[in-house]
Amino acid sequence: MPATVVIGAQWGDEGKGKVANLLARDADVVVRYQGGNNAGHTIVIGDEKFALSLVPSGVIYPSVTPVIGNGCVVDPGVLLEEMATLRSRGVDPDHLRLSGNAHLIMPYHRKLDAVKERYLGRNQIGTTRKGIGPAYTDKYSRQGIRVQDLFDPGIFRDKLEDALREKNQILSRVYNTLPMDIEPILDEYAGYAEALAPHVTDASLLVWTAIREGQNVVFEGAQGTLLDVDHGTYPFVTSSNPTSGGALTGTGVGPRDIDAVLGIAKAYITRVGTGPFPTELDDEIGARMVEIGGEFGTVTGRRRRCGWLDMVALRYAVRVGGITELAIMKLDVLSGFPTVRIATAYEDGGERFDDFPRQQRVLYRCTPVYEDHEGWEEDISGARSMDDLPKAARSYLERIEELAGVPVTMVSVGPDREATFLPA
Ligand code: IMP
Repeated sequence: MPATVVIGAQWGDEGKGKVANLLARDADVVVRYQGGNNAGHTIVIGDEKFALSLVPSGVIYPSVTPVIGNGCVVDPGVLLEEMATLRSRGVDPDHLRLSGNAHLIMPYHRKLDAVKERYLGRNQIGTTRKGIGPAYTDKYSRQGIRVQDLFDPGIFRDKLEDALREKNQILSRVYNTLPMDIEPILDEYAGYAEALAPHVTDASLLVWTAIREGQNVVFEGAQGTLLDVDHGTYPFVTSSNPTSGGALTGTGVGPRDIDAVLGIAKAYITRVGTGPFPTELDDEIGARMVEIGGEFGTVTGRRRRCGWLDMVALRYAVRVGGITELAIMKLDVLSGFPTVRIATAYEDGGERFDDFPRQQRVLYRCTPVYEDHEGWEEDISGARSMDDLPKAARSYLERIEELAGVPVTMVSVGPDREATFLPA
């Protein structure tokens, strides 16, 4: 394992948290490298399930150091709330470490996210409204406030004053909404500073040292390749780089420090929010995937759009993310369909696209070229190895490997930990 990046190979919600939690059992460090509390993963403690959005996977193992890297945007109130929830369930989050270079989500970021979406109306992106985009916007326009600023009250006040001078103009004059006062924000964030102080560290040095010492490090991505701000279906994307390049810039290590890139994909494909989706099923098959797959968002509860597995997109994810192996999740959801389909190419205006089209309009207009595979009737949720799967399910996985050009090294057939197995 030594240094493995776990990335979403579709539009997010592939089951990265589950895989990262599995890998975390043998890991020393799990580091989140981008995104914020727009992500969501469910963890199981005893008989209880609960959702985490910011705390890295593996927090439940005392031997794992969970790290939030510089590439993340951190809503400190949310982080502390999640840590308190963990504590109340008997999980000690005191070993969590937070990069001083990560950017803070401020109250005006959340507000701007909501009013901008409202303003866009029909063209809205369908963001999680957690302030993610506005926080990254400030980072890149060099107006962001970083975790380390919390510990320099003079600098924090100066930066906040500068930010509010501009944001309040935008809130009131552009979006016709109420401006924000500085004092309550200063008080609120002073409280966060005190609570977070013991956790703040040089995360890049921590991760680099762990790798040098031969420890097992998991780089945990959030969202997925097609939501990447550079490589995804822009502008219907998130504001960071979920692809493996983000793991480097978002933690502060180099490409030679990475040993493997594990791409996580469902056996079909889903998306939340707006944007093009060539294999979307707007029919009873899609509705059945939603129902059987429980396809509702962990963070926002929104119904996910569902479609047949898109290998044009998955091959693209393998390419732009340098994926070395794949985990195929939720294979059990496809049980009972007489035929399962895989899109192997797109067609638009008489032209065939075997590679992901460079012109976005093609994604809206194209017709997927499907390959039909025999389905399987059996309930496969009890399978614990490839040998337990019906022949049709095995050949479906083999075809995915063939089309992706990388091996499938993990298969999941149900929500339990044991239901995720490594093919023999
Ligand atoms: P934002 O990340 O909140 O700015 O939202 C931008 C787009 O990314 C929207 O389409 C969201 O639905 C999508 N998105 C953000 N986080 C996730 C996630 O964890 N899973 C799936 N989609 C996400």
